Amino acid sequence: MNAENTGAKNILVIHGPNLNLLGVREPEIYGENTLQDINRNLSVLAKNAGASLDTFQSNAESELIERIHLAMNDGTEFIIINPAAYTHTSVALRDALAAAKLPFIEVHLSNVFSREPFRRKSYFSDLAVGVISGLNIKGYELALKYALELR
Ligand code: DQA
Repeated sequence: MNAENTGAKNILVIHGPNLNLLGVREPEIYGENTLQDINRNLSVLAKNAGASLDTFQSNAESELIERIHLAMNDGTEFIIINPAAYTHTSVALRDALAAAKLPFIEVHLSNVFSREPFRRKSYFSDLAVGVISGLNIKGYELALKYALELR
């Protein structure tokens, strides 16, 4: 990243429920990488671009909401979020992101549109800057690249 970069310098990556099980959880759908692999990779990419990246995972809706509230005052400029199953159920998490007014990209490892019909509904997509679904860990990398190069 060069000196003209005007992208986000403080990026928060939020992972929703069951994503702590990546690597062992349905690898035929979600791949073989662990959450630690994903976070480590993103941290290196952010560091190389001179940005700082924080990661957070929880299986609890309230903890995810509280982390978004914190992001309103901790210098976070951009959020990359995989709300996991809460994508399809959580008005409360949606409202937290709407309240925070921080730009975010919604990421899914799997292609939610090629799976069960209930996964096609997202409470987040219309608020998101963009949505990436089905590109596995590459989706997080592309979301990060966007945040880092933002203009
Ligand atoms: C997911 C897709 C969701 O439907 C599912 O509940 C998840 C993971 C994904 O990354 O593909 O837990 O968000």
